[in-house]
Amino acid sequence: MHLPRRKTPLFLSEMKYARKNNNVSIFVVVFSIFLFGCFMYNEDVKSIAEFPFSRPKTQELQQDITKTITRKEAKLEEPINLKMIVAKDIKKEIELPAEKVEEDEAIEVPPEDCDLFNGDWVFDNVSYPLYKEDDCEFLTSQVTCMRNGRKDSFYQNWRWQPRHCNMPKFSAKLLLEKLRGKRLMFVGDSLNRNQWESMVCLVQSVVPQGKKSLKKSGSLSVFRVEDYDTTVEFYWAPFLVESNSDDPTMHSILDRIIMPESISKHGENWKGVDYLIFNTYIWWMNTFKMKVLRGSFEEGATEYDEIERPVAYERVLRTWSNWVDQNVDPKRTMVFFSSMSPLHIKSTDWNNPDGIKCAKETTPVLNMTTYLEVGTDRRVFAVASNVTGSMKIPVHFINITTLSEYRKDAHTSVYTIRQGKMLTPEQQADPNTYADCIHWCLPGLPDTWNEFLYTRIISRS
Ligand SMILES: *[C@@H]1O[C@H](CO)[C@@H](O)[C@H](O)[C@H]1NC(C)=O
Ligand SMILES: *[C@@H]1O[C@H](CO)[C@@H](O)[C@H](O)[C@H]1NC(C)=O
Ligand SMILES: *[C@@H]1O[C@H](CO)[C@@H](O)[C@H](O)[C@H]1NC(C)=O
Ligand SMILES: *[C@@H]1O[C@H](CO)[C@@H](O)[C@H](O)[C@H]1NC(C)=O
Repeated sequence: MHLPRRKTPLFLSEMKYARKNNNVSIFVVVFSIFLFGCFMYNEDVKSIAEFPFSRPKTQELQQDITKTITRKEAKLEEPINLKMIVAKDIKKEIELPAEKVEEDEAIEVPPEDCDLFNGDWVFDNVSYPLYKEDDCEFLTSQVTCMRNGRKDSFYQNWRWQPRHCNMPKFSAKLLLEKLRGKRLMFVGDSLNRNQWESMVCLVQSVVPQGKKSLKKSGSLSVFRVEDYDTTVEFYWAPFLVESNSDDPTMHSILDRIIMPESISKHGENWKGVDYLIFNTYIWWMNTFKMKVLRGSFEEGATEYDEIERPVAYERVLRTWSNWVDQNVDPKRTMVFFSSMSPLHIKSTDWNNPDGIKCAKETTPVLNMTTYLEVGTDRRVFAVASNVTGSMKIPVHFINITTLSEYRKDAHTSVYTIRQGKMLTPEQQADPNTYADCIHWCLPGLPDTWNEFLYTRIISRS
C-alpha cells in the first residue's frame, strides 16, 4: 500500500486540549536526564534474540492490504447511554485550554456483554493519535520512535473498532474524575510498563504544569496528579511471583529462576490499590522450561528444578489468583489481567520474505480472516484465560493478544534504546541484530489497550 508520506504533524488544529509549550523545554531536559537514569533496561530484547520457541508451520498468509480503508461504524446493540458529567472546572488551578472542551460530555459505554476484542483496525487520522509524542514529556526514549528517527507515522493512526459495539470516546477528564482520590497500578513486566507510560500520557494532557509529577523508587514508579489526588503507578514484577529478576534496574539475568509459591513480598505493595492491572509473559519466553527454585533466595538456596513453561505458568497464576482472592476487596478494587503481548520476529509469518523482523513494516495486517501465527504461546494464553475466569474475585481479562498480533507495524524496532543508550546509526542500519520487535512505540498500540481499561473503568457505576 502506498500512502503518501507526510512530514508535519497534522493534528495541531484538532488538538482538543491545546497545551502551553513555553517553559516546557527545561522541564523536558530535566526529565529526560531523570528518566534516562531510571529506565536503563532493555534486556528483554537480548534474551529474545535466541528465542527458541517451536511453532507450527507458517500458514499460507494471504496478506491483503486493501487500498481504500473505510471507516466502519459498528451498529450498537442496545447502547447504554450513561450520561457522564465531567466535573466542571474541577479547581480554579486547572487552566482550561483556549478551545474550551464541552463540560458535559455524554459518553456512551458499550453493553457489558459486548466482546470488545473482536473487531478490526480502522485507519483514522482524524481522532488518532490520542496525544502527540512531543506533548508528553513523560515518555521515555525507549518509545519515542519519531524523535528517534522513525519516518513513517501511520502506526499512530489506527483505531480499534469492535464488531458489535463502539469504543467510548476517550476523555482524559472523565477518566481522571473516575480516578479521583484513587490509585491505579500496573504490575508486571516491561510491556505493562509500556502500557503505564501510555496511560500517563493519556491522562496528563489535561493537567497543567506543576500539578503532575513522576517519582521512581525501587520497584515502584508513581505518576501523581495533584488536583485529583490520583496516582498512576507501575510496579516491576516480571513474573508476578518472587524471582531473581526482581531488581528494577539490574535485572539482566539470563538464568531466570522463580519461586512460584512466593508472592506476598510483592503483594504487600499492591494492597489497597483501587485498580490493579497485571501481566506476565515476555520473561517466560527465552527458555522452554522454567527454573523453579528449591527453597528460597533468602535462605541462599541455589538448586532448582526445570519445569515445562505452561505448568510453571499455571503454578504462578494459581499463587497470584489466591493472593487476589484473599487480599482484594471487590467492592473497592477492580482487577484486570492483560493477556500476552505478541512479538514479530519472523517476517515470513505475515508473508513478507523481504522483511527483516518487524523493521520494515508500516501497516498492520488487515485481512483479519487470515489466521496469523507469530509464535505466541497459546498454551500460556489458555492458562491465563482459564485461571482468571475461575476466580472468586471477578477479574477482567484484557484479551489484547490476537488484535495486537496484526500490529507488526507498531513496534519500536530500531528507533529505541538499548541498555540505556540510543541506537547508533550503525546499529539502526542492522535491524537483524538490533530491532526491538517486542515493545511498542508511543503514541501507539498500548493506547488501545488502555482504551479497554478506560471502557471498563468508566462503565463502573
Ligand atoms: C483474506 O485472506 C483469506 C485467506 O487467505 C482469503 O481467502 C480472502 O480472500 C482474503 N480477503 C480479502 C478481502 O482479500
Ligand atoms: C480473544 O480475542 C480474539 C479476537 O481478538 C478471539 O478470537 C479469542 O477467542 C479471544 N479469546 C478469549 C479467551 O477471549
Ligand atoms: C488523513 O490521511 C489521508 C490519506 O493519507 C490524507 O489524505 C488526509 O489529508 C489525512 N487527514 C488528516 C486530517 O490528517
Ligand atoms: C482451559 O479450560 C478448558 C475448558 O474447561 C479446558 O478444556 C482446557 O484444557 C483448559 N486449558 C488449560 C491450559 O488449563
